[in-house]
Amino acid sequence: MNRSTSENDSLESGARAPAPRHVAIIMDGNGRWARARGLPRLAGHREGAVAVRRAVEAAARLGIRTLTLFAFSGDNWKRPPDEVAGLLVLFRRYLAAETPALVRRRVRLSVMGRRDRLPAPLRRAVSAAERATAGGRGLHLRIAIDYSGRDAILGASRRGPARSRAGFARRLGLASGGGAASDVDLLIRTGGEHRLSDFLLWESAYAELTFASVMWPDFTPEHLETAVSDFRRRERRFGGLSKRAAS
Ligand code: IPE
Ligand code: IPE
Ligand code: MG
Repeated sequence: MNRSTSENDSLESGARAPAPRHVAIIMDGNGRWARARGLPRLAGHREGAVAVRRAVEAAARLGIRTLTLFAFSGDNWKRPPDEVAGLLVLFRRYLAAETPALVRRRVRLSVMGRRDRLPAPLRRAVSAAERATAGGRGLHLRIAIDYSGRDAILGASRRGPARSRAGFARRLGLASGGGAASDVDLLIRTGGEHRLSDFLLWESAYAELTFASVMWPDFTPEHLETAVSDFRRRERRFGGLSKRAAS
C-alpha cells in the first residue's frame, strides 16, 4: 500500500484533526484586484471590506474561536498618503457599520496594533466597537491595524524579562492589544505571495500555512472551508514523530 493510500484510509476511517481554533488571515491582493478591473486601488479595499464580512460569518459558522485579520501593517504607512487616508476612513466606517451585526452575532472585537498613530476619530471608533462587543461570547475577531509582529515582540520584551514562554505570550497579548496571544493554528495568505510580511511572528511558530492565489476581494466562505478541510488533513507534529512513525 503506498503512502497516499494509507493516508486516505486513515481519513476515511474518520481520523481527521479537529477544526482550527485560531485562524489568521493576511488579506492581500486588494490593489491587484482593482487594477485588473481598471479601478482605483481604494475600490479594491472597499470590496475587501465586503469579503471581511463574509469571512467573519463563515468563521463563526465553522466553529473557529479566534479569527485574526491583518488589515494594515506598520509598514503600510509607506504607501501614498491618499491610499492610507482612504484605508483609515474605510476602517472607521467598517467598525461603525458592522458593530450592531457583531453584537447580534455575539462576536467580540479587539483591535491589535499601535493606537497612537491612528487619527482620533478612528481611535474613538475602535474603542466604541470594542466596548459594544466586549460581552460577546462567540467568535473573537481581532483586527490588526498598524500592527508589526516584530514591534509587538519588542514591546513585550520591554516589559521586563519573562520566565516562561507562556508568561511572554501573555505579555505579548497585553503589548499588542487584542487579548492573550494564543498560537495560530492556521495562517492563510491570499493574493499569491508566500511571505509573512511581519504578521504574528511569535504566535505562528507552529502555524499551518496556506497560500491562496485568490485576491482578497474574491475570497469566499468556500475558500475558507477548503483551507480548513486542508488543515484537518495535516498532521501537526510540533517537533515530535508522526503517529505512524511512533507506533
Ligand atoms: C492588502 O491588499 C490590503 C492592505 C495591505 C491594506 P494590497 O493593497 O496589498 O493589495 P496588492 O498586494 O497591492 O494587490
Ligand atoms: C501585508 O500585505 C499586510 C496586509 C495584508 C495588511 P502587504 O501587501 O503590505 O505586504 P508586502 O508588502 O507585499 O510584503
Ligand atoms: Mg499587498
